[in-house]
Amino acid sequence: MQTVKVYGGHRLHGEITVSGSKNAGLPALAATILAPGISRLESVPDLADVHTMIELLRSLGCKVKREDKAIIVDAHNITSTEAPYNLVRRMRASVLIMGALLSRTGQAKVAMPGGCAIGTRPIDLHIKGFKALGIEISNNYGCIEGKASGKTAGATVYLDFPSVGATENLMMLATTTPGITVIENAAREPEIVDLATMLNSMGARINGAGTTTIRIIGVDQLYPTNHRIIPDRIEAGTFMVAAAITKGNVVIKNTLEHHLCPIVAKISEIGAKIKNYGEVMQVVGPMQIQSTDIHTLPYPGFPTDMQAQMMALLTLGSGVSVISETVFENRFRHVNELGRMGAKIRTDGSKAIVKGVDRLYGVKVQASDLRAGAALILAGLAAGGVTEVNGINHIDRGYENLEDKLRKIGARVARTGTVKKQVIGE
Ligand code: EPZ
Repeated sequence: MQTVKVYGGHRLHGEITVSGSKNAGLPALAATILAPGISRLESVPDLADVHTMIELLRSLGCKVKREDKAIIVDAHNITSTEAPYNLVRRMRASVLIMGALLSRTGQAKVAMPGGCAIGTRPIDLHIKGFKALGIEISNNYGCIEGKASGKTAGATVYLDFPSVGATENLMMLATTTPGITVIENAAREPEIVDLATMLNSMGARINGAGTTTIRIIGVDQLYPTNHRIIPDRIEAGTFMVAAAITKGNVVIKNTLEHHLCPIVAKISEIGAKIKNYGEVMQVVGPMQIQSTDIHTLPYPGFPTDMQAQMMALLTLGSGVSVISETVFENRFRHVNELGRMGAKIRTDGSKAIVKGVDRLYGVKVQASDLRAGAALILAGLAAGGVTEVNGINHIDRGYENLEDKLRKIGARVARTGTVKKQVIGE
């Protein structure tokens, strides 16, 4: 088990550059399956989930290589249409290859992704959409199998929840499904827009990405493309919290302001001073963190992927903060670990009531998932003494060189322990 030791009490200052978005890079990699040929993706972060997706593409017959921050995928020959369980259990986003495989080959078999640390994570909305477009779905021995029937055709699909993954899977399938597909109550995240931009550069005809209604006109063929992945808004937000929680002064480069509105709003509410210079943001932390309330929602609401990081910040607030997690049913696994550091947090269903304390104490804590792990490191930056965060493998799934970036702006962090096998994915 790998551990990161965080020596708290150091104000962060200096510049860091945000990497490409994990949650845009993963669907983009899946989308390369759609076209026989060689596609190039720029600014793909080098992290465990990307490694898993590359392994998955190779298992399907793709040739994949990395050239610095670019990944080149040769998807000429698809030799398999099955995503094996050992990869799906490692990373739920493996299910994103289903829409692309069904579009390219007319069939796909994906092990049912299990639940994970933050919730049951069903894929019923993905399946509802596939069926609406004429895919025959069978569910046997823990696998979901889809086959294009003779009558696949565009359809209108209403998503009961604006699921990011279901929107992405359906967009990919609909690109070559004859007729018009309309996704209603679609997810509006920036990662959806980025995927639609990539798909349209491959010859797809998608309108409305970023709104609640996306229209796709099916085309006969898609072509390989070159596409640059958008910056990671959650990594940017994580570093904004790092500056705020340490009373620091950090310049964060490679940010897109319009992707960060809810995060900027909330970090300003706790008293930080934020200046925007186009694709650069400066965050100066307050001498005293002010309490505020957080209510996670699908985009453009406050992102659930920033909930744990904001909770770490609010444990040092001046009063009481109420955090409502409305997207996942079990995303408070970091509460007890923060409590071990001296935080005063009580949960009641989907709400966490955080009573600010004067200080946190460095102790041994356990990361349960990707963002919980990040939150514990952030808390350690402000805590007195040394915080040992176990389960750092979770963090490696979603952050590229996190410790190096933190050290570059003055944090004292060190990794110890042996490399553990991959963690089961969220
Ligand atoms: C994506 O997961 C992100 N992952 C998650 O980021 C993010 O938290 C989530 O979107 C919400 O923004 C990637 O993009 C790889 P959903 P996804 O489908 O697509 C329910 C991180 O930390 N639901 O929008 O799996 C589901 O149970 C990760 O980077 C159904 O009920 O999220 C959940 O409660 C964690 N049926 C809610 O919708 C379905 O068929 C949101 O899920 C699908 C989802």
